[in-house]
Amino acid sequence: MEAIRRPLARSSLVALFFVVLSLGAFICTRYLDSAALLRRYPGKVPDLDLMFDCVDWPVMKKDFFDHPKHRAPPPLFRYCGNDSTYDIVFPDWSFWGWPEINIKPWEALSKDLKEGNTRSKWTDRDPHAYWKGNPTVAATRMDLLKCNVSDKQDWNARVYAQDWLQEQKQGYKQSDLASQCIHRYKIYIEGSAWSVSEKYILACDSVTLLVKPIYYDFFTRSLMPLKHYWPIKDDDKCRSIKYAVDWGNSHQQEAQAIGKAASSFILDELKMDYVYDYMFHLLSEYAKLLKYKPTVPQKAVELCSESMACLAQGFEKQFMTDSLVKGLAVSEPCAMPPPYDPASLHSVIEGKDSGIKQVETWEKEYWQSHNKQM
Ligand SMILES: *[C@@H]1O[C@H](CO)[C@@H](O)[C@H](O)[C@H]1NC(C)=O
Ligand SMILES: *[C@@H]1O[C@H](CO)[C@@H](O)[C@H](O)[C@H]1NC(C)=O
Repeated sequence: MEAIRRPLARSSLVALFFVVLSLGAFICTRYLDSAALLRRYPGKVPDLDLMFDCVDWPVMKKDFFDHPKHRAPPPLFRYCGNDSTYDIVFPDWSFWGWPEINIKPWEALSKDLKEGNTRSKWTDRDPHAYWKGNPTVAATRMDLLKCNVSDKQDWNARVYAQDWLQEQKQGYKQSDLASQCIHRYKIYIEGSAWSVSEKYILACDSVTLLVKPIYYDFFTRSLMPLKHYWPIKDDDKCRSIKYAVDWGNSHQQEAQAIGKAASSFILDELKMDYVYDYMFHLLSEYAKLLKYKPTVPQKAVELCSESMACLAQGFEKQFMTDSLVKGLAVSEPCAMPPPYDPASLHSVIEGKDSGIKQVETWEKEYWQSHNKQM
């Protein structure tokens, strides 16, 4: 799913930009999601300014700041983080569509995916583990290619390198996501950092075989092994995949339940309303911590969200306009539950670890008995 080209204004060119939200005006940047939030909850989003970094990788290293001589880390927003950084995670652009490769905004796309799932029953689907993407962006993806079926081996994996040039010529018809839910198992593997493909893979009613990730985005920490996905070892991928698929094909009820739980999580709990609510609550809590009143820099240029839609062309324009309409206020934001107390947080983390360990144990037993038979 990684495109060869990311929307430029949102990544490489403008690595760092400054957003000022003040008195309902949207200033400084082409950043549609924040504008949509203001229109959705008019008067509710507090004045704030924030720093947003559009580069893929987190940078606020805990090691550096966990030192008595260093000051507290500055709050920096971005699309993903990991356990050794303090960066604050925020929904990525793909929720508002990815016009460059013809991916619709999430609101519309998730409906397509839901409908797509009814087209092919899990039991009728291809019983192998499927992956298609750009392998060259990460060593771990190149490593995954070794698990592909060949004359000599079959690890139950069918993996394909995406040919973006070819797809570009065909107008990205191949990337029609709703028609891609035809496999019992789909592999998710990180690219250069988190990958926006994760929600599309999880939404398929397939069992997601999730190669041990390093990064998280704003929703992925809620995913539980054996409930929403099947964990795959990073350093022993082929044997891990082979066992996962054998297990699923011999435990079809359980496997389908994992696929369903992931789809409901993505299609119901990650619906666009809640994405906006996450943004709303995150920004509101953040604004409460500001010790000064944000003001609009003198040289700031105000861009209304309509004028952004006017500047855009083709698909992009259509997507932006769709998001604008959908972004209108419909109800109150959801109530945010109280934060985890340490004990419940611990039990979530514990539950995650034990699911992963459970699979590792099964896997080990499987390969021990397998090797004996050979
Ligand atoms: C987290 O990300 C940073 C920066 O991208 C990277 O240097 C670090 O190795 C990552 N941490 C882990 C645990 O992989
Ligand atoms: C994996 O194997 C299939 C079937 O032989 C083949 O069509 C495909 O191109 C292979 N994938 C890669 C990345 O070589």
